[in-house]
Amino acid sequence: MAEALNPSLTRRDAARLLGAAAAVAALPSGWTARRADVDALLRKLTLAEKVSLLHGANDPASKGEAGYVPGVPRLGIPEIRLADGPAGVRVTAGATALPAPVALASTFAADLAQRFGAVIGREGRALGMDVLLSPMTNIVRVPQAGRNFETLGEDPLLAAALVVGEIRGIQGEGLIATVKHYAANNFENARQTVDVKVDERTLREIYLPAFEAAVKAGVGAVMAAYNHVNGVYAAENRHLLSEILRDDWQFGGWVMSDWYATHSGAPSLTAGMDMEMPFGVNYGGLAAAVTSGQLAESVVDAAVRRVLVQLDRFGLLGGGRPRPAPDPAGGARVAKEIALAGAVLLRNEGDLLPLGRADLADLAVIGPTAASPLVGGGGSARVIPAGAESPLTALRRQAGPGSRIHWATGVDLEGVPVPASALSLQRAQQGGAPQAAAQVDHTGAGALPAGSSWTWTGTLTAPATGDYDLRIQGAGGVPSFNGSISLTLDGVRIGSVGALIGGNSSLIATSGGLTNAGTTVRLEAGVAKPVTVAATGIAGTPLQVRLAWVTPQRRQEALREAAALAKGARAALVFAFNEGTEGADRAALALPKGQDPVVEAVAGANARTAVVLNTGDPVLIPWVRNVRSILQMWYPGQEGADATATLLLGGANPGGKLPVTFPVRAEDAPTAPAERYPGVGGVADYSEGVLVGYRFYDAKGVEPLFPFGHGLSYTRFQYGDLSVRAAGGGLSVSFTVANTGRRAGVEVPQVYLGPPAGPPVPMAPRALAGFARVRLSPGERRRVTVTVPRRALQYWSDGRWTLAGGRRTVHVGSSSRDLRLRQEVTVR
Ligand code: BGC
Repeated sequence: MAEALNPSLTRRDAARLLGAAAAVAALPSGWTARRADVDALLRKLTLAEKVSLLHGANDPASKGEAGYVPGVPRLGIPEIRLADGPAGVRVTAGATALPAPVALASTFAADLAQRFGAVIGREGRALGMDVLLSPMTNIVRVPQAGRNFETLGEDPLLAAALVVGEIRGIQGEGLIATVKHYAANNFENARQTVDVKVDERTLREIYLPAFEAAVKAGVGAVMAAYNHVNGVYAAENRHLLSEILRDDWQFGGWVMSDWYATHSGAPSLTAGMDMEMPFGVNYGGLAAAVTSGQLAESVVDAAVRRVLVQLDRFGLLGGGRPRPAPDPAGGARVAKEIALAGAVLLRNEGDLLPLGRADLADLAVIGPTAASPLVGGGGSARVIPAGAESPLTALRRQAGPGSRIHWATGVDLEGVPVPASALSLQRAQQGGAPQAAAQVDHTGAGALPAGSSWTWTGTLTAPATGDYDLRIQGAGGVPSFNGSISLTLDGVRIGSVGALIGGNSSLIATSGGLTNAGTTVRLEAGVAKPVTVAATGIAGTPLQVRLAWVTPQRRQEALREAAALAKGARAALVFAFNEGTEGADRAALALPKGQDPVVEAVAGANARTAVVLNTGDPVLIPWVRNVRSILQMWYPGQEGADATATLLLGGANPGGKLPVTFPVRAEDAPTAPAERYPGVGGVADYSEGVLVGYRFYDAKGVEPLFPFGHGLSYTRFQYGDLSVRAAGGGLSVSFTVANTGRRAGVEVPQVYLGPPAGPPVPMAPRALAGFARVRLSPGERRRVTVTVPRRALQYWSDGRWTLAGGRRTVHVGSSSRDLRLRQEVTVR
């Protein structure tokens, strides 16, 4: 509060600082930030020093983090290290790979979000970071968007509740959180250029509430998105950055751009974008703009002050605070707890799950992700853990003696080294003379020397015409944004191991632990294609490189093997996956890599088939009625295998709920028309308005495959005795939930609110207005009260929130389509 009395501050500055001060109060007790005199510090900084605090630079002692801002050591302003991200701290050192945030969203539990955040907060501090580039809270709008796994679902109320928990967790450990990507960054294709056309009401009601909640929870930083919003880049959008964020919400922290998302210097700064990342391509020129009179130094000062206020608030000025030791065991515990809690039982006909003793005595397990775990999604949210067990190993371990569990891949992602008969190659070590080479197959004991660099050139000739999956597999490459072990066919780079974005690198390693990149190409029998493999190794680690393929014949064989294994077994368990990643949306909603025919063949061979999904978002499930059970595990993090086996064997009971709608067909999705997604002429028209996710399906009467909020349990729940009363400007909704089954379980009762008759604006038939998460023993009955905030009764119109008064229906249920109780209330 002391700053508010400083006469040099404008009223608006004072209001912003008060916002920051209020947010400090949100930090846990016992955590006291130092309160330096930020304005005195600002007066001591030279113009060049001020500007150096407003953009990133190369880290002279990089820990593998995404961003770095040098400090001003002579004044005790520390260097700042900023690391991704949403599923764990992404630096060179090993960190806890938490489940993907979509799994967290499925818990519907703000307290779990806080614990999730606390793991990252502590670990980030322990690993030398000051700022975390998380949470991500862009609403899931497009079912196939690449980063859906990284965010918190399709409902603004749910995302807001979770983001608040997560920020409390992160910042409670002293790490500054960055809520991203502000705003309307809802898909990946053309994300850097697309212009999102969205009306103000839709922004305020759907795309902004989670950001607003983050600001109210005291988030230290906001990341501006790549895309345009209504014709203006998000990173220089005055309406978003100044009018909404600062003036309406009183945000007291600073705004940084997404990486390379800044497009101007002075105009961006003046619009409210404080810090250009990762380098000062534009902001490097700010000092010159000031000296030439194009930019007032007070604008620079305001931005620097916002940064310093947060550094001060988090105790980073003047020597900083001691860093905690890492706590990998604590991280692993939370990772498992959230993998368990976020699992969603989508279907369980005849209670096939949990598997019984007899099933385990003769179980066929199918699928590559059963043997090579799919820990997390791709891109900047990818965290490589120190280790991760495979589900197959965990199942065998938990099933114990007397069990017989066999595995077949069903879908071969790995293949075999391309045989010498199909290759005509020469290889050369950097600086050396070319020599003939039969194959590219240097793994294990046959690895190439650490730090060496090689090129193989020649031709590849297929023995028969067909679709070949060409793979470049490797390890020990030098870290590089584009990858350092690559495969080029016919002049086109088709695979690159270790590329952060692009490169066709799979999230699923080979059985030998190699990164596996590549794609499917059509090859004609006897036609020689030019091929190049290049590999550059890192010092200290042997360089492994393999050029492999999956032939059309092998694909058929793998399918037949899986079906044969399933036929002879008592029960079959298929692991199916998709690979969500930053930088690209999925080309289709269907499962990739020919998995559908494999599931169908297995289900055809064994009537007791269950499927485990490792997907980051909705997929089409044409075989839904052919299988008895489907357990959605998402990308479950480093402890995912243990959690998966525990749930399958009944050691824990699934209680997660879908935070996203699964459509029956791609054309059912709200964003199916091209003008909505990916857009036409560079413009994506959000013309579905507030009808995002389940709101759209409900409004249009389209039956989803699995609705928002859906999730079964190994037990049953009964609802009754609804009563609704006005409370605190909103509603207090009470009802009874009883566990009528024989197992303990978790239920997430959801409260939905209907519109008044003749609504003032088009409204969804039902919108989530509150929820709870209750754990009940068999036979236990509990009275649950859910508070519906006033905001849930309002809509945005003419620049303000307005009550949608009148008779409205309150629904309570187990999903958005399994509504058990209803009551009409008069809202005023
Ligand atoms: C992503 C951000 C990320 C940043 C730094 C960008 O490509 O969009 O989410 O924080 O890179 O890695």
